[in-house]
Amino acid sequence: MKAAVFHKIGDISVDNVPDPTIEQSDDIILRVTSTAICGSDLHIYDGFVPQLRDEVLGHEFMGVVEEVGKDVRHLKKGDRVVVPFSIACGQCFFCQQGYHANCQHTNPEHYGPEGDMLKGKGGGMFGYTDLYGGYNGGQAEYVRVPKANQGPKIIPDGLDDEQVLFLTDIFPTGWSAVKWGRVKPGDTVVIFGSGPVGLMAQKAAWINGAERVIAVDPLDYRLQKAKALNNVDILNSEDEDLIQKIYDMTNGRGADVAIDAVGMEANRNFGEKVSAVLHGQKGTMKVLELCTEAVRRSGIISVVGVYASPYDNFPIHRIFDKGLIMQFGQAQIHVYIDECFEMVRSGKVKLDDIITHRLPLTQASQAYDMFKKKTDDCVKVVMKPGMS
Ligand SMILES: NC(=O)c1ccc[n+]([C@@H]2O[C@H](COP(=O)([O-])OP(=O)(O)OC[C@H]3O[C@@H](n4cnc5c(N)ncnc54)[C@H](O)[C@@H]3O)[C@@H](O)[C@H]2O)c1
Ligand SMILES: [Zn+2]
Ligand SMILES: [Zn+2]
Repeated sequence: MKAAVFHKIGDISVDNVPDPTIEQSDDIILRVTSTAICGSDLHIYDGFVPQLRDEVLGHEFMGVVEEVGKDVRHLKKGDRVVVPFSIACGQCFFCQQGYHANCQHTNPEHYGPEGDMLKGKGGGMFGYTDLYGGYNGGQAEYVRVPKANQGPKIIPDGLDDEQVLFLTDIFPTGWSAVKWGRVKPGDTVVIFGSGPVGLMAQKAAWINGAERVIAVDPLDYRLQKAKALNNVDILNSEDEDLIQKIYDMTNGRGADVAIDAVGMEANRNFGEKVSAVLHGQKGTMKVLELCTEAVRRSGIISVVGVYASPYDNFPIHRIFDKGLIMQFGQAQIHVYIDECFEMVRSGKVKLDDIITHRLPLTQASQAYDMFKKKTDDCVKVVMKPGMS
């Protein structure tokens, strides 16, 4: 089959690789009909999350069941499903409490309690390096889906791929961000990052009753997209008065909730890059710092942007002085997918309006380049293995 294979930093090509096969009795094989590129894929592409051998990437995908293992209970050949990005057993201590991304049984080599850079990681994820289980991903014609009794959600025929594809990750991720932020009616929510995840968090914030949603990004085309699709207020992160403007919009207090939908690859100037090298740090935590400034006292910071290294000068003093609440982590797709699906089905939310590019899988290399460099006003790329 054909698949998008990561070779080394900045090098992804579409190669012929062996077809996946059933390895465990609760696996399925899926024929992928649609798959997307995520900001999280860029962390591998850019070398911020290391991967030393070739791997098929892709954790956002859906398709049609081609083959089922003998212990698969609810699925049969021909079912159309969307698959959560994290792989979870559903039975362990963490899964039982709704922390599926910390599943104890899906990352045998590298799982552990530490959460360090290179050891003791969480549960398995599709196409997300050996540190997270070494599973091949879904930017491919076919993919093996382990633990198929837990993740995949059947999609009725009346909904097309693009309407539901983002249930695999980014809408439940935006939803998790807003739930972790405990957004309630009347809140002002400032959301850093107006990429796909930020756009989804904006939608989720409105649904949860926010009175005002402020989007922050350095890219004007993404801010304009946010305004047009989600009717948010917009601020450019390069604006020197950014934080003051947020205070001015919130009676001088700061936002009730700040969401980080950027992570460690936030834009940096030359000095910041040099400083990171000198301190042995990967990327930057500047958006997290901005969140601590932008949020009001006794406010909440919710972080879905990915961080993979430690940083000096963490603003712990400000977090203490302001009395902040913070929550971080991989999103809870298994917990929220049904609720999120129902919002799509009933028309309460529209997810496919963020798609800017549709390409055949064979153009994965160009697609990564465009999404990474943010050219052609790219926001979200969907790749279709069946398209030529
Ligand atoms: N926690 C999870 O489960 C989960 C799931 C999906 C994605 N993610 C993470 O969410 C983040 C965003 O993903 P995405 O797909 O939207 O990626 P993206 O790269 O398209 O979006 C990031 C956006 O942040 C903007 N940005 C850069 N510097 C900024 C700054 N200083 N202030 C404000 N905005 C800034 C960029 O211009 C871009 O629009 C990534 O870190 C990704 O790994 C996490
Ligand atoms: Zn993703
Ligand atoms: Zn588990």
